[in-house]
Amino acid sequence: MKKMVIVGFGFMGVVHAKNIIASDKLELLGIVDNRSADIFADIDKTGNQGNCDLPLERLKQTPVYKTLDECCKIEKPDAVSICVPLFMHYELTKKALNLGLDVLLEKPFCPELGQCRELIELAEEKNRIMMVAHCVRFAPAWKFLAERIRDKCYGELKLLTTTRMCGEPTWGVWLDTEIKKTCGGSLFDLLIHDIDFANSCLGLPENIEVNLKVDEYWELLFRYNDNQAKVSIKGGFLYQHTPFVSEYAATFEKGSIRFSSLQSDVIHIGTDKGNEFITMNGDAYQAELEYFAKCIENRSKPERCLPVSSLQAIEICRNIRNTKHT
Ligand SMILES: NC(=O)c1ccc[n+]([C@@H]2O[C@H](COP(=O)([O-])OP(=O)(O)OC[C@H]3O[C@@H](n4cnc5c(N)ncnc54)[C@H](O)[C@@H]3O)[C@@H](O)[C@H]2O)c1
Repeated sequence: MKKMVIVGFGFMGVVHAKNIIASDKLELLGIVDNRSADIFADIDKTGNQGNCDLPLERLKQTPVYKTLDECCKIEKPDAVSICVPLFMHYELTKKALNLGLDVLLEKPFCPELGQCRELIELAEEKNRIMMVAHCVRFAPAWKFLAERIRDKCYGELKLLTTTRMCGEPTWGVWLDTEIKKTCGGSLFDLLIHDIDFANSCLGLPENIEVNLKVDEYWELLFRYNDNQAKVSIKGGFLYQHTPFVSEYAATFEKGSIRFSSLQSDVIHIGTDKGNEFITMNGDAYQAELEYFAKCIENRSKPERCLPVSSLQAIEICRNIRNTKHT
């Protein structure tokens, strides 16, 4: 069993903690959070997807620390899951790598490309495993789509449209107007999921058009050089408390695949043979954590989600942000 600690016990920290406790490869030794308030209060109500079935009693038995240094001195962990706001990603990941820990860092990687590069080099130098937690790559319905794009079972992909929307976050550090400004808005926080997914399946786009931007809502079109596929990425933050939804529709030469998180256990496939429904099981966050656990156990690079690809997602978001749009 690898010993793991968590830094940042907000929405995502709680998700990671729950999955570490459920894993037979990992042991949760400590939680680091610098909040002065009770970190266990209302943890089932934070976030945009609800934190259900939490092992509350087990969580409350976990030692809590204010800093990673303090936690490491006592708990001597092998790895850390970093779930703090974006502006703290670089500093805390650098600290963790220098303390000799393997790192699972919540997305997005870091705001500056130089910071991402420096951390990739540091992880190499220290011989540590580092993975940025792009959970969509591990979500069953999205993994299914990635496999069909690769195996061309329905022919070449012609068009992928994705939609990802939710109300503007109203929990945790998002309530601090100064920190909120550093989170990168819906592009870096939300749409980066679809941007990274498209990169993982189709490589880097040759051209990106920003077709619409209204406040924190975006419509993007990705075109590829040697590939006929186009990718349309839509969504962002809507008015606060609007429920989360993530959807895709993929059209191939000989069929279409559709998915919506509103019916998250089913994928719909249309071909000339008719209509097919495939049932999906499994949780993206748990699959992501189990994969990271396997990588640190085997000392193997996280090939399914390399940090260099997480850097490329940041680079694309930065380019989009700098693109002139109406
Ligand atoms: N993969 C996903 O689906 C997903 C969903 C939501 C958020 N995220 C990502 O997770 C990260 C955290 O987001 P969140 O929604 O959990 O935020 P949050 O505000 O709910 O939690 C952040 C926590 O970090 C703590 N913190 C801040 N600075 C700290 C420090 N220096 N040391 C220790 N603790 C510190 C805060 O007290 C807070 O409890 C962000 O990078 C965000 O983009 C990912």
